[in-house]
Formats: sequence, C-alpha cells, structure tokens
Amino acid sequence: MKNFYDEIVRLTETNGGSWGINHTKRLMKLIAIIADDQVYNEEVLWMAAHTHDWGAYAGWRQDGVDHVERSLQVVGSFLEEREYQQELIVEVLDCIANHHSERNDLSLEATLLRDADAVDFLGVVGVMRNFSRNPKDMRKGFQMGLEKRQKLPSVLVLPKAKEMAEKRIVEMDSLLSLFESDSWGYY
Ligand SMILES: [Fe+2]
Ligand SMILES: [Fe+2]
Repeated sequence: MKNFYDEIVRLTETNGGSWGINHTKRLMKLIAIIADDQVYNEEVLWMAAHTHDWGAYAGWRQDGVDHVERSLQVVGSFLEEREYQQELIVEVLDCIANHHSERNDLSLEATLLRDADAVDFLGVVGVMRNFSRNPKDMRKGFQMGLEKRQKLPSVLVLPKAKEMAEKRIVEMDSLLSLFESDSWGYY
C-alpha cells in the first residue's frame, strides 16, 4: 500500500511541480490548525489535499474543462483503478467537488479543505501566489489579490479559519498598499 501513497505524492510533484506539492504541504498544515481538535478523517483529507487540483496540472488539465470537473474525472478513475475503498472515494470526491464552493452545509472534511484552500489565497502567501500566477503582469496579480480579499473571508465557516483570515487580511492590506505607494501606481 505504501507505493500507492508514494505514487500520489510523486504525481502531485511531477505534474503540479513545486507549486502543486507545496500548496498541498501548506494545506496539510492549515487543516491541522483550523480543525482545532475536531476529529476528522485524516485519510480522506490527505488524499483530497494531494489530488484536489490535479485537474489543473500539466498532464491532466484540459482546455475548456474546469479544473474541479477535471480533477473529479482524473482522481475518480485513478482511485477506482487502484481499488481504493469505495466509501473513501465518495468522501474524497465530495471534498474535491466542493473545494471552491461557497456552501456552508458541507461535511467537516469538505469544509476543512475548502476553508484551508481559501486561507492559502489570503495574506502574504496569497499575494505571492497571485503574482506568481501572472508572470510579467503585476496589475493582474494585484487585481486577483484584491478579488480574493473581497470574496474569500465571507465564505469561511470554521472559527479558526476565520481567525487566521482576519490576521491575513490585515497583512495583505498592508502589503498591497505599500506596493501601491512604493510603485507610485506604476505596475
Ligand atoms: Fe482548486
Ligand atoms: Fe487548491
């Protein structure tokens, strides 16, 4: 069974690059923090934290197909082929399907992944991610940061995630406003 987990880490790293595997590692940290002593299925979250964005990564992504849809296709057949337990497949796919959802009635596992994924788009890390997603287009990176800042905090459900977001919003506002003033708006 070890090979199966190693294979997932390797695929996340090969197809998602350092971008993908480090996003996963940050999510694992965030999930542990925001769970705040609530008991959750660690197996399901390990799997979902590694695979939820597979549909956005090289080798899997398809033009015109939303990355969430694509992840569901790729991960669904990957886990079926390896005869992963059926009830776990259902839970992992539920986490993947809802990782950008704004619903507040999700399972604890799906909520943890969605809240952690949103927190990873906030604060200094969030700003860096948006700039790095838009090479040589700082205005777009800046704009994306503002959009995430407006939208994501209201989507969060778990108290610890809200607490982290609050702190990250302050840091983000300060970073973005320094960027604005230090660049005289030329970006
Ligand atoms: Fe995603
Ligand atoms: Fe993600």
